[in-house]
Amino acid sequence: MEQTYAIEMLNITKRFPGIVANDNITLQLKKGEIHALLGENGAGKSTLMSVLFGLYRPEEGVIKKDGKVVEIRDPNDANALGIGMVHQHFKLVECFSVLDNIIMGVEPCKHGFLQKAEAREKVLALSEKYGLHVDPDALVEDITVGMQQRTEILKMLYRENEILIFDEPTAVLTPQEIEELMQIMRNLAAEGKSILFISHKLNEIMSVADRCSVLRKGKYIGTVDIRDTTREELSRMMVGRDVEFVVHKEPAKPGKTILAAEGLTVASKTHSKDAVRNVSFTVRAGEIVCIAGIDGNGQTELVYGLTGLEPLKGGKITLDGQDITQAPIRKRNTMGMSHIPEDRHKHGLVLDYTLEDNMVLQRYFEPEFVSKAGFLKRKAIRDYAGRLIEQYDVRSGQGPVTVARSMSGGNQQKAIVAREIDKDPELLIAVQPTRGLDVGAIEYIHKQIVAQRDAGKGVLLVSLELDEVMALSDRILVMYEGEIVGELDPKTTTVEELGLYMAGAKREGA
Ligand SMILES: Nc1ncnc2c1ncn2[C@@H]1O[C@H](COP(=O)(O)OP(=O)(O)OP(=O)(O)O)[C@@H](O)[C@H]1O
Ligand SMILES: [Mg+2]
Repeated sequence: MEQTYAIEMLNITKRFPGIVANDNITLQLKKGEIHALLGENGAGKSTLMSVLFGLYRPEEGVIKKDGKVVEIRDPNDANALGIGMVHQHFKLVECFSVLDNIIMGVEPCKHGFLQKAEAREKVLALSEKYGLHVDPDALVEDITVGMQQRTEILKMLYRENEILIFDEPTAVLTPQEIEELMQIMRNLAAEGKSILFISHKLNEIMSVADRCSVLRKGKYIGTVDIRDTTREELSRMMVGRDVEFVVHKEPAKPGKTILAAEGLTVASKTHSKDAVRNVSFTVRAGEIVCIAGIDGNGQTELVYGLTGLEPLKGGKITLDGQDITQAPIRKRNTMGMSHIPEDRHKHGLVLDYTLEDNMVLQRYFEPEFVSKAGFLKRKAIRDYAGRLIEQYDVRSGQGPVTVARSMSGGNQQKAIVAREIDKDPELLIAVQPTRGLDVGAIEYIHKQIVAQRDAGKGVLLVSLELDEVMALSDRILVMYEGEIVGELDPKTTTVEELGLYMAGAKREGA
């Protein structure tokens, strides 16, 4: 008997200026299966899913739903066919509440009146049922990235979609949340929903998917049954070579103090309780200090305070012996502070600028890039960007002149990492530096971070990934409810112990 697929994408080709993002790709999704889509940064995964969701019209190819050819001209068509998508970069209205975002476009009305109470109850019931905790009345601009993600998922469940596309949903979730999401996906599949799941984390794919299709540089490589494959085979299919999963590093040789934070207090935007309370620590030259913790325990605000994105309510910061407590952001930059931000769109890039202009955002006023008369040295900027693109393997359609917005998420991230490391900072503050990167790129970035340390720089790493924390850090500071509750040595501690501190079940001196 011939199998009918829930969705078939046949011979899809989609071109962008300078690049064939999808080159004759075929993807078949069975009803009730969890189908993973794997590929390097820029391989064409999001593009393919955007074609299915009606955001792009392919130049060639057809889409079938339940065996019948369908036209998907826009997301409304997709929605009418029961196709929903959680985007890699959320599409939420920042100044609206969580609830308003979820019901937008499908607001329940009676006699022309919005039935918000009804909608609110449905959202609360769904969030209860699937363990997706959100505050329906909070404004999106005030909530954590994790909660924004959960809002996106609820949006799709609220619309009762039956084909669910998750474009890197776990990139911003904590390990516990990821476990929960995996269970949610299993339940949804058991209810008969068909799921397309993009992830760079091979463990997740191994644990949740039934099958996995692999793309490389816009081309279809193959589809495998998860039961018959391994992590190593998947990464080989994807990158075309073997990937090392362990970080090699020598013991740290810490020198002088680079960063000293004394009694930092940062107010919270959403609560009356301060987000960061009386936090003190140092980062020395030649060491990687990691702030570990569950998302939302003040790490974000701590970094805002250190980098000058938010004012401090109290405390003092010195960088290489100089007081920078009141210094503006540019001053901190020129004094040797680099920052790979948590939210790459909000604080990392100007999306409508070209890649080359983004590369010199904090440096365009230096003699290397501007003439005495005040004109930008375009050629110098282009050459500089070209070098970083080459060195960090930043892939895009048109090289230095590519508009940042059009680049794949992982390549945007690689561009930021390249810029911040290449500034040759005294202190590198890296927040989730490998979020959304493929396994090959992670291997490279980890090596670069260790190289920074070995070159005598101070590195402050903020990460939600326990594996990353354990692999990279020389010292671990655990943050819980705005305070540092423990300092651990990665060589002697275990993931379990770390987890106890992160959950607030254990603290130093208690
Ligand atoms: N709107 C667009 N305009 C121009 N080029 C685009 C556009 N969208 C994507 N591209 C290009 O198409 C290629 C594939 O991008 P896509 O976003 O599909 O990659 P991806 O596999 O999702 O990567 P990642 O893992 O980094 O998210 C990239 O080189 C990207 O620069
Ligand atoms: Mg993508």
